[in-house]
Amino acid sequence: MWAIQYHRYGDPSVLQRDEVCLPSLRPGEVLIETVSSGVSDIDLMYRSGRLRMHGVGFPKQPGFDVLGVIRDTRSVAVQPGRWVWSVLGLEPSRRRGTAVEYLRVDSSRIGLFPDGYAPEADIGALTLGALTALKSLRAARVVAGQRILVVGAAGAVGTAAIQLARFFDANVDAVAGPAGQDLCRHLGASGVFDHTTVSVDAVQASGAYDAIVVAAGRGKDWLGAARPGGRIVLTRADSWIKTIPSATRGRHRVLGIAAGHSAANLTWLAQRVAEGQLTPAIGKSYDIDDLARAHHEYGHGGTAGARLIRHNHQAGPN
Ligand SMILES: NC(=O)c1ccc[n+]([C@@H]2O[C@H](COP(=O)([O-])OP(=O)(O)OC[C@H]3O[C@@H](n4cnc5c(N)ncnc54)[C@H](OP(=O)(O)O)[C@@H]3O)[C@@H](O)[C@H]2O)c1
Repeated sequence: MWAIQYHRYGDPSVLQRDEVCLPSLRPGEVLIETVSSGVSDIDLMYRSGRLRMHGVGFPKQPGFDVLGVIRDTRSVAVQPGRWVWSVLGLEPSRRRGTAVEYLRVDSSRIGLFPDGYAPEADIGALTLGALTALKSLRAARVVAGQRILVVGAAGAVGTAAIQLARFFDANVDAVAGPAGQDLCRHLGASGVFDHTTVSVDAVQASGAYDAIVVAAGRGKDWLGAARPGGRIVLTRADSWIKTIPSATRGRHRVLGIAAGHSAANLTWLAQRVAEGQLTPAIGKSYDIDDLARAHHEYGHGGTAGARLIRHNHQAGPN
């Protein structure tokens, strides 16, 4: 089978397509024929060597999340032909990623789409972002009628956070770059602010929000926008540590979250997708052989949706 791998740390050009052995299953595991995946910041940190937590030695594989269909199983919990998605999460000793033709994963780590439901490949753009957004909104204890601000709203995490906050009947405002303003409104945000303009100052001083999900920028910049006792949820650990001192002074509750890989959360999200309550917002779509370009273009601004990596082959239910 094919696998995208890197044999040394470096810029995106280190990514290459290799032929590797098909993984053999252990008890409790399933084999997923992959259809699509996303790109995340942590992929870039692993590949460049900025974060050296992705196992010892080479080759290593990129990719954190995946959408696909079960082709083989050694688990009684799930049958071949079922559509699933999965997040590998931090697997420090494994070196493996989801940019592969077939992925072996424990059945306790897959989210199941409803039986008989076959998602479009586009749905793969949601996996990690939606899981992160769900964890963030639950940490924020979002309930109906609250005012929520999503910062970094036009990206993979933010576009899912807007939709899920609306699903919970909260009122959502968004902070995004110029390219993402219309998308945020389309997904259900009421007020949309441009992070590149001064109008954001008024938002920062408003004290209006019950909770703020910060998926970009510095967490401490947004503390003033939360009411006293309001919750600020940060998706980056480094931002969390820097925000704690000012949060304590302002009587705000600051929480750092990790997406994790909960099967229950993934299955809950799959149900939202099947019911049409959560849809992918795709800013850029790439073929798997163009993964290096996807890495290269990540984080260069102008974001209006998540990045989708198409794995270039059609999987069917049988
Ligand atoms: N904790 C976890 O498990 C976990 C999981 C997934 C992701 N994350 C983190 O979550 C963050 C968001 O990920 P993502 O994949 O959604 O990123 P993304 O797709 O690149 O989206 C980032 C968004 O933030 C906007 N932005 C950039 N600078 C900003 C600023 N100073 N103020 C407000 N908005 C700004 C961008 O707009 P422009 O491009 O137009 O500037 C874009 O809309 C990343 O830091 C990532 O590492 C954490």
